[in-house]
Amino acid sequence: MTSFDAVGFGGLNVDKLFKVDKIATANEETFVIDYKEICGGSAANTLVGLARLGCKVGFIGKMADDREGKMLLEGFRREDVDTNGLTIAKHGRSGIVIGFVDRKGERALYVDPGINDTIEFDEINKEYAFKTDFLHLTSFIGEKSFQTQKKLVEILPANVKVSLDPGELYARKRTMLEPIIKKTFVFMPNAKELEILTGTTDYRKGTQVLLKKGVKIIAVKHGSKGCYVTDGKEDYFIEAFKVNVVDTTGAGDAFCAGFLYGLISGKSLYECGKIGNFVASRSIMKMGARDGLPRIEDLKLHKILY
Ligand SMILES: Nc1ncnc2c1ncn2[C@@H]1O[C@H](COP(=O)(O)OP(=O)(O)OP(=O)(O)O)[C@@H](O)[C@H]1O
Ligand SMILES: [Mg+2]
Repeated sequence: MTSFDAVGFGGLNVDKLFKVDKIATANEETFVIDYKEICGGSAANTLVGLARLGCKVGFIGKMADDREGKMLLEGFRREDVDTNGLTIAKHGRSGIVIGFVDRKGERALYVDPGINDTIEFDEINKEYAFKTDFLHLTSFIGEKSFQTQKKLVEILPANVKVSLDPGELYARKRTMLEPIIKKTFVFMPNAKELEILTGTTDYRKGTQVLLKKGVKIIAVKHGSKGCYVTDGKEDYFIEAFKVNVVDTTGAGDAFCAGFLYGLISGKSLYECGKIGNFVASRSIMKMGARDGLPRIEDLKLHKILY
């Protein structure tokens, strides 16, 4: 079997986005201006970002044998993300997110996790997860798939480094997340998630708490301010790139792609943070989470890589 630079394991969904005149409240009627469907899922976006940067990547996840499932599969194939780690269920429905965006850009989102929440430990291919340098985990809404991630992390061989973007869902699990945290090599929360998880508003203290639990590298995403990165020996606050913001959806996922790319290619901690900021900044210059994700040539063009 092939071996990967990174394998993702997280929820998969098709985002169904309605541009609307106004987000309706209860018992109100408004109208739709435009509609589009795009492939999403936090880890999936990150792995697509890594594939664009030339990394060899795969994915563990579940979809149904329905129209959305086919879109998700095609979305991966188009981007050179290996699909042999995916489970395609005969029954159930693929995950979707129904989103309403008004003229001002305010959003209302409804997540239907569908089959994402039914991933059994027995149905995932462990060998697939063992043959990668990094296993990148993001959240599931349901308990079953979270337990499966926990079990997988428990049995991972030492050569596989766990990467975790908790999102608010997993940050709120607090002590329940500990078994994964203890085995996490690189942890990439945003500032709010770090605060929820550690109970301190001081992000430097927050990272200390997690380093003591065994995390090796932490990158805290600070939105338009940039990121704070530390490995317990060095630490840097790295300013964000100043760009024309079009849509910040997936900025965090793109950051993870850039940061992980840095680690995969043996860059210093500072450079990893800078590449993370850069990849995120390109992503927010375009609509959607994936369109703006850059290629190696873009990094060279902007003198991020030489
Ligand atoms: N306005 C901005 N200008 C430039 N860079 C930005 C801006 N907003 C975000 N970024 C970049 O994107 C990274 C991640 O953004 P953010 O901190 O919002 O993550 P997040 O909250 O996890 O996002 P997401 O909603 O995608 O999960 C930041 O660390 C920064 O590098
Ligand atoms: Mg995030």
